[in-house]
Amino acid sequence: MPSPKIVILGTGGTIAGQAEASTQGVGYRAGQIRVEGLIAAVPDLPQIAAGRTGATLDAVQLAQIDSKDMDWQVWRSLLQALAAALDDAQIQALVVTHGTDTLEETAWLLQSVLQPRKPVVLTCAMRPATSLQADGPQNLRDAVAVAASGVAGVWVAAAGEVHAAQQVLKAHPYRLNALRSYEGGPCAFVEEGRVRWLSTPQTQQPWPAVQITQLLQRDELPWVEVLQSGALQSARAVQALVAAGVQGVVVAGTGNATVHEDLLQALLQARSQGVKVWCTTRCLEGPAVGGGDLLSGLASIDGISAVLRPGAGANELDTVLLPPSKARVAMMLALAVCS
Ligand code: SIN
Repeated sequence: MPSPKIVILGTGGTIAGQAEASTQGVGYRAGQIRVEGLIAAVPDLPQIAAGRTGATLDAVQLAQIDSKDMDWQVWRSLLQALAAALDDAQIQALVVTHGTDTLEETAWLLQSVLQPRKPVVLTCAMRPATSLQADGPQNLRDAVAVAASGVAGVWVAAAGEVHAAQQVLKAHPYRLNALRSYEGGPCAFVEEGRVRWLSTPQTQQPWPAVQITQLLQRDELPWVEVLQSGALQSARAVQALVAAGVQGVVVAGTGNATVHEDLLQALLQARSQGVKVWCTTRCLEGPAVGGGDLLSGLASIDGISAVLRPGAGANELDTVLLPPSKARVAMMLALAVCS
């Protein structure tokens, strides 16, 4: 019986970044160092991977980008590679090195589509690999420890914390602990190579294989934009987007997902013209709260496990209980599987 494997997939990011000087923490180039180089920077990574099962490490360079430039091609190859690896009995767990900037979206995409029965652990860094303060090696070590722990789901390991895909957000542009869970705290801490779990979110059914195949055959995802409601908000952005053919709009509403009346009227008009419109809150913590029975409203919509309260808001818009960045991904997927 061949030994189990933990596969590390490299996609770029600051964790693979290089600067001209070791004192330089901004203005570097992300996505320069190959995944084999990241592994070599952690001397005991093979021992951490071996854990209780004796797993060995494999490395695959899937992409080499700054994650601000994330596109469907990279997402599609990541979904393809992970779907194949999840079906491979020899592969025990997966680690993905990624930039911090769009990590919250990638994590949610992977969780929504794959609902993995193995650990899929994303990790990242806030300082380039060349920095005096490089946090990538420790984050990678922690990610492999989470992978070896065997707890199924999509996780993000960074700064000694483990966040669930639905919860993780980038909350600071510079600090080493830039990521956080937008409601509650981390699911686990990694301490000296040991993972101390506090909670694990409920798992959902994975998408049927045929739906994943359909998604992967697409050349692009549907066009969805996020608009924010605020003081002096006008209807013009919605009107311009509709005229240009937008397929969906997520509005990041004020407070408890309320929307400026001028913007709301334009959104209702857009919806009557076939544009999908969801509302969420622009508040930094927690989803919008509605009247009625919240639990009975928790649902998957169009096959997507985004929690959504249909038409529950005072504004008549469907309210999605996700932050705007993740709501946008959920809507792209919802439109992709319906069109
Ligand atoms: C990126 O997102 O690829 C660059 C920034 C980072 O990783 O922190």
